[in-house]
Amino acid sequence: MLLSTNFIAGIQFKTVFNTKPLFTMVAHTVLLDFTVSTNVIADADKRSNLKSAIANVLNDHFNGLKPFTEANIDGSFIILYTGPRGSLITVRGYPEGLVTINVEYYKRDEDDALLTFQSTRDLETAMQAAATATRSHTLATIKRGGPFERYFPTSDERLLEYDIDKLVFEARSPYQKVQIVHSKSLGNLLVLDELQNMSEADLIYTETLMQRGKENYIGKEIVILGGGDGGLLWELLKEKPKHVIMLEIDDVVIKACSQHMRSICGDCLDKKKGDNYEIIVGDCVKALTHMIEEGRQFDYVFGDLTDIPISTTPHGDAWDFIRLILNSTMKVLKPSGKYMTHGNGASCPEALAMFEEELSQLSVPVKFKKDHAFIPSFFEDWIFYQVSRK
Ligand SMILES: C[S@@+](CC[C@H](N)C(=O)[O-])C[C@H]1O[C@@H](n2cnc3c(N)ncnc32)[C@H](O)[C@@H]1O
Repeated sequence: MLLSTNFIAGIQFKTVFNTKPLFTMVAHTVLLDFTVSTNVIADADKRSNLKSAIANVLNDHFNGLKPFTEANIDGSFIILYTGPRGSLITVRGYPEGLVTINVEYYKRDEDDALLTFQSTRDLETAMQAAATATRSHTLATIKRGGPFERYFPTSDERLLEYDIDKLVFEARSPYQKVQIVHSKSLGNLLVLDELQNMSEADLIYTETLMQRGKENYIGKEIVILGGGDGGLLWELLKEKPKHVIMLEIDDVVIKACSQHMRSICGDCLDKKKGDNYEIIVGDCVKALTHMIEEGRQFDYVFGDLTDIPISTTPHGDAWDFIRLILNSTMKVLKPSGKYMTHGNGASCPEALAMFEEELSQLSVPVKFKKDHAFIPSFFEDWIFYQVSRK
């Protein structure tokens, strides 16, 4: 892999050219677990037999296996073995009857796995039989290290593995870590501070956010808060609005997406001003404050900020900041105007309820509608709000 170092507005960033699939060379962790009856762990003789049975199976599967150390912690036994190619194998038997086996090693050669999917299954089957386990399970191999992350959380903090095969862009801006990675099924994916944002497969996100086909943008004046990937700006411009102002804090996001996410943003991020749009780089809260002072009013304001927006001034917590954005937004909307924003994953009803509670307490009384769509890059159903004055 070659890294070419460049600068955007003084920010160092790397453009990555893949010459060799180095991404396959990472630490592998194979996790097996099985359940035995609780008295097998509690009873000294049965526990000893179980340990021997496990050791025999491990010996059959790993050449040169050696016991490294053994301990008892809080009623559970732990045995560490060293195995081939610097592998470490941890066996833990919990008093509740759960036995976990973790195999960790560094996979240095592309075609050279200590455990394959099939051999792990064989190991599991042999373990289940030897330990007369009532159930067993093996997780797909967890991979750690390498040039990019493969795992991102859902909104309710479940682990997702993405089929990422390339780091396309990486930079640390003054505000966040900005990455664009390539996923085999999603295309290029924008990752901000280790969280998945817009991918090339997410037109449905933008269309649901803007309620395409339900809202009429012809001749309308619009503000986008955030939206640095340019997807929303590009799709709104197709609807013939009078003018769109996009307020994005991070020029590194804009430049990276303009270069690597063109299928979603077209050429609208190439320049800061077009016939009917302007991109203003700065904190949207400050820009909104100016707009309020100048008495400006818009037909639509879009909240297309990161889930936890970047605050350049000290505010209590993320909710304080979100409340500040909501209250400022209501002041720049025409009486007939609408605030359109994304909410959260449908699997987070508590967070959605908190957002709706915030809406009910704004300085201006509002009503809202909701829509939802399955977003490919989030792997989950996402909720979108359309807020207007009562
Ligand atoms: C890239 S968009 C995408 C958001 C969308 N939720 C998604 O997941 O695809 C979010 C943008 O909001 C911007 N942003 C965050 N806080 C901001 C602020 N205070 N002012 C302006 N832009 C902000 C970030 O820099 C980021 O580019």
